[in-house]
Amino acid sequence: MNYEAVVFDLDGTLTDSAPGILRCLEFAFERLGRPAPEERVLRKFLGPPLVRSFMDFCGMSEEEAVRGRDAYLERYHTLGWKENRVFPDIRSLLIALKRAGARLSIATGKQGEASAKIARAFWIDHYFDAVVGTASSDHFAEKKDLITRSLAGFSGKAVMIGDRASDIAAANALGMDSVAVLWGYGGRAELEGANPTYLVESVEELAAVLGTELFHSRGFFISLEGNDGCGKSTQADLLHGSLVCLGFDTVKTREPGGSYVAEKIREILLDRANTGMHDMTEAMLYAAARAQHVRDVIRPALQAGKLVLSDRYVDSSVAYQGAGRGLGMELVARINEPAVDGCLPDLTVLLDIDAQDALRRRERASRADRIEMLDDSFHLSVAQAYHELMQLHADRIRPVNATGTPDEVAGRVLSLVHDRMTEAGLI
Ligand code: TYD
Repeated sequence: MNYEAVVFDLDGTLTDSAPGILRCLEFAFERLGRPAPEERVLRKFLGPPLVRSFMDFCGMSEEEAVRGRDAYLERYHTLGWKENRVFPDIRSLLIALKRAGARLSIATGKQGEASAKIARAFWIDHYFDAVVGTASSDHFAEKKDLITRSLAGFSGKAVMIGDRASDIAAANALGMDSVAVLWGYGGRAELEGANPTYLVESVEELAAVLGTELFHSRGFFISLEGNDGCGKSTQADLLHGSLVCLGFDTVKTREPGGSYVAEKIREILLDRANTGMHDMTEAMLYAAARAQHVRDVIRPALQAGKLVLSDRYVDSSVAYQGAGRGLGMELVARINEPAVDGCLPDLTVLLDIDAQDALRRRERASRADRIEMLDDSFHLSVAQAYHELMQLHADRIRPVNATGTPDEVAGRVLSLVHDRMTEAGLI
């Protein structure tokens, strides 16, 4: 490592917070009864303290700027802070730096409490020895003072990483090295003008400047399971969105299907016209689609270190064909062994809902496919099979209470994923 301590700016450096910030600014201008300036001007707000920006870019008095800031924060505290994502590769950089023994901190013009909340919600708080933001009464906090505070008690060689000229100017004023990053909001002209020690285009390049290499994660495989009507596809979408925002390179896929040939097999499987299909044919077609899916999509993605999220996987076959169709859970598990070829999920989330509730939800949903149109006793035995599988593979298959609003369920799923990924050393 070329530095013992690394200080990061937050917005535009670690996270892409622009969408949330811009929406909150529009809300604030509406509240002040002023037309919002054009986006070119609004983007100048990304970085410097808010009150200062309202005064400098819109000619407001301090009193009006403080009202603007308060209106902004009203939306920010409820909605805006969540409209954010960790830039790709940033997590791999933070893990690499931490493993190399660097002291990491955040110095941001954002309010301290909001910054700590964001770091926690986006699963990056534990990488940092200090997260320093501003106090709500401190309208004109200087970046260099924030950097100094974030390094309190430390006297080794430190570097500042930021995406705005103000980050670089603060580092220069403190006599520190700095790295300007081009994926944020400053732009090349602004950053070159600020005279940084280094200017980098990618996180990989930043790692090299700091004297390390990005951490190469092993793949992580999550499958989602549950009865028809448990809300699984909604949860798959929500979980996928969250994982992307958390900065994971995520591939979302589904079964039956998920790749070209497998989707062709899916059409045969779900076509209501195929009334003459034997149960064994059905089980083997699901396994055949899976064999293709594993080799085309799942295994290559895991080998590339990605996070794979599959809406249904092998447990669906064991529950639906093994128990629902009555072929026997063990037999169907065995048929699937060569299809799966050892590629099992690290975590299977079972969306657990009362079987009767699931049936009612299913009735309200759109036109049923060949499997969904089966009678209640079929779906009840599927539910029972899932519970047996959960006991058999207690380590891998974890239930999540699937009652409540989609957001409530999504919160439970995410916390399970967090715990399992932490155990696996991937966060
Ligand atoms: P789909 O429209 O994807 O439903 P869902 O949103 O509930 O996943 O259809 C998949 C159907 O196929 C679903 O009813 C479950 C069934 N299925 C099996 O019977 N065996 C399997 O191995 C898989 C993957 C799915």
